[in-house]
Amino acid sequence: MDFHRIKLLPPYVFAEVNAMKAKARAAGQDIIDLGMGNPDTGTPRHIVDKLVETAQNPRNHRYSSSRGITGLRRAIAAYYGRRFGVEIDPETETCVTIGSKEGLASLAGAMTAPGDQIYVPDPSYPIHAHGFLIVGAEIVPVKQLPGADPSAPSGYDFMQGFKRAVEASSRKPLAVILSYPSNPTAQIVDLDFYGEMVEFCRSRKIYILSDIAYSEIYFNDTPPPSVLQIPRAKEIAVEFTSMSKTYSMPGWRIGFATGNKQLVGALTKIKSWLDYGAFTPIQVAAAAALNGPQDCVAHIRDLYQKRRDVLVSSMAAAGWDIPSPPASMFAWAPLPKGFEYLGALEFSKLLLTHAEVAVSPGNAFGANGEGFIRIALVENEQRIRQAARSVKKFLGQGAPDAPAARATASNVTPLKKAAGR
Ligand SMILES: Cc1ncc(COP(=O)(O)O)c(C=O)c1O
Repeated sequence: MDFHRIKLLPPYVFAEVNAMKAKARAAGQDIIDLGMGNPDTGTPRHIVDKLVETAQNPRNHRYSSSRGITGLRRAIAAYYGRRFGVEIDPETETCVTIGSKEGLASLAGAMTAPGDQIYVPDPSYPIHAHGFLIVGAEIVPVKQLPGADPSAPSGYDFMQGFKRAVEASSRKPLAVILSYPSNPTAQIVDLDFYGEMVEFCRSRKIYILSDIAYSEIYFNDTPPPSVLQIPRAKEIAVEFTSMSKTYSMPGWRIGFATGNKQLVGALTKIKSWLDYGAFTPIQVAAAAALNGPQDCVAHIRDLYQKRRDVLVSSMAAAGWDIPSPPASMFAWAPLPKGFEYLGALEFSKLLLTHAEVAVSPGNAFGANGEGFIRIALVENEQRIRQAARSVKKFLGQGAPDAPAARATASNVTPLKKAAGR
């Protein structure tokens, strides 16, 4: 395609693995899909009931409010008060979005002038860089990988890299992206990290865009903090939150942005030109989710924790040491010993064809993700164990040599058939 903005987008690393996955499925193979972070558990009953009830009323079939209905904005403010002890004005400091992905992309469009610099962790969730790339920003990637203890807060290397780059540059960046717990690396940070970032950015008038899509999916005793807990953070920071993971509502497309009035105002304004807001019954149901009983969130958290434990122990038994993630719905795994030379994409393709297990190559999230695989906890415990058994057989055959691996990836007999089962 020859369109200017489309040409700005790099080739999609997921595309190759996705195409192979679709082909394998079409051929009748049972692929265990640990690729996309797409929650599989269904939305809690009381939230679905609220949607159904509200959708019965024709009044709710009209265009909604693009910045979000009042009831939902109040529910968001109450959530921030309850969870983070942060006071939010529902009129001026929050805007409902059609998922946080849309919110990030819309804000990028609203705030960016061509050539503005945005600092983005590498690896990171793709919209963080590409939402800005599409609208003509210059992306400055900053390496971000977990430290030696994966369960400890670990954003400090990233912060040092960011500070050094800003101090060495003659240009003032427009914004920096922070996203913890991280997709894909599952890293977490503590409040001191946010304190230092806010101090540094506030003195230089650099906006902080924080994405806390996984704020409620944590396995340590301390819940992940919000950047808005730092005094005066609102002078420069806006934070995106998603209903997709906390309440297993990925298909509903609902999230919100909260914090700095100028940024929330810019997002609200651009959205008033672009959309009419999420369907009103979805917004009413989202308010019911935030205001209602929260045991469903504890249940969802518990489910991911159990899957994480099964993944880590069964893969260890298969010969693949995977650090146990402290939060998020992902494990971030170095390539198994002896297979490193294949690279993340080649390894993912071989895993799909030989073990019928789909994962995401780490370099799909940025160049520094090379050498890693992201595994999403979106299949049940039994399927995760089944995946580990297939991986064990695959790893047991030893690493193929590189050119042969390339040839077989597109032309290989699946493990099950090869084993005669
Ligand atoms: C870090 C991060 N932010 C945002 C999103 C998108 O969330 P939403 O469904 O609210 O658009 C995802 C989805 O995987 C994510 O991993």
